Amino acid sequence: MTRPVRHRLPGDFLWGVASSAYQVEGAVGEDGRGPSVWDTFAARPGAVRDGHTAAVACDHYHRWPEDVALLADLGVDAYRFSIAWPRVQPSGSGPADPRGLGFYDRLTDALLEHGVTPVPTLFHWDLPQELEDAGGWLNRDTAARFADYAELVAARLKDRVGRWITLNEPFVHMAFGYALGVHAPGRALMLDALPAAHHQLLAHGRAAAALRGAGAGQVMLVNNCTPVRAAGPSEQDRAAAQAYDALHNRLFNDPVLLGRYPDLSAFGAGEDLLGAVRDGDLETVSAPLDGLGVNYYNPTWIAAPDAPGLPFAEAAAAPGSEEYERTAFGWPVVPEGLTELLTGLKDRYGDALPPVFVTENGCSLPDTAADGRVADPRRIAYLDGHVRAVAEAVRAGVDVRGYFVWTLTDNFEWAEGYHQRFGLVHVDHATQARTPKDSFAWYRDLVASHRAAR
Ligand code: NOJ
Repeated sequence: MTRPVRHRLPGDFLWGVASSAYQVEGAVGEDGRGPSVWDTFAARPGAVRDGHTAAVACDHYHRWPEDVALLADLGVDAYRFSIAWPRVQPSGSGPADPRGLGFYDRLTDALLEHGVTPVPTLFHWDLPQELEDAGGWLNRDTAARFADYAELVAARLKDRVGRWITLNEPFVHMAFGYALGVHAPGRALMLDALPAAHHQLLAHGRAAAALRGAGAGQVMLVNNCTPVRAAGPSEQDRAAAQAYDALHNRLFNDPVLLGRYPDLSAFGAGEDLLGAVRDGDLETVSAPLDGLGVNYYNPTWIAAPDAPGLPFAEAAAAPGSEEYERTAFGWPVVPEGLTELLTGLKDRYGDALPPVFVTENGCSLPDTAADGRVADPRRIAYLDGHVRAVAEAVRAGVDVRGYFVWTLTDNFEWAEGYHQRFGLVHVDHATQARTPKDSFAWYRDLVASHRAAR
């Protein structure tokens, strides 16, 4: 097994793991929880591989004490989890259901008892179905509803939670959920999905204001970021890569950090994002942040379009990229892409870039448990390479303050169901047995060696 190395990172660097409510909780009909877009979507034939659903998932809603014990054993500083909006407000508006809030209250207390800092995300894709029926993120009103919800959660938890994440990966939610229809709510609107970007960002801004108004502490947004590489040297490939970068990365970072949208004219959109942006919105969206969370998995190679429609084409493999190792998902393993991403953010945003936290990073592998052990040397190598890539960015002057592994337990991987295993802990989905993988011990040792050096 690879031995832990003391990477040169700041002493107060936050080590954590991340998860999300829908992917682990199960208990979708319990304690008054309302239906979410993911319950509806997963019930559609063909939407999720092999018809898997998250009705039980990791049964974390009942087994959370066991999962908190695993976190305590892992010794992480922080746990990033998400709060299910349909547990707090079953229909997306109105008073909070005390049973839903009570669950996160107990979880928060248990984490704190074990010295683990809770870092809740308020929205990780499980929109209450009733809000979707009213237009979901295409409806501006959803942003107002989100701010109300944030206020309800803050009122209950702010005495113990000091670090909040508003949204998780609004790009992926817009692109997969509203443009391509491969995630909930399953709408395939292509570029007409762009208002779902603005309304999510507006929701972020309004929730951030609500959290600050409540004196709830630090506020962050989590974006999925990918370094975009042109598949070839042609001018057309370079222009396509720039267009894709604007859509995937800058559409969600620029308004928040610079107070303006990037040029999306290649997509036929103006700065008003198809009429969604109103006067004053960008001031709300760009209120100062305490941190930017970035989720990194791999770079993206982009070529000139080969058919009319979008101004880019995703290239499966760039020249040379076939030499990259690939995860079970088929994603290329490119640790140096994380250094490139972090230094690229610093280059683009300069002093406007708040402290950065890598809020997700990890890989899916076909792990199997044998005799109580799961050997996952490739995950250890993946994580080791990416932590080193973070250290490299810190050396290059980027203010990175934390790193969260995706994820604690193998869980419901959206349209892939239970087929992709990202956990540090193996879950037998038939019995719910949890088996820490070798990577769990590796990460525990890494965190411990940093703690010892503090
Ligand atoms: C990002 C998402 O936030 C998370 O829900 C998902 O499981 C991982 N990526 C892996 O795909």
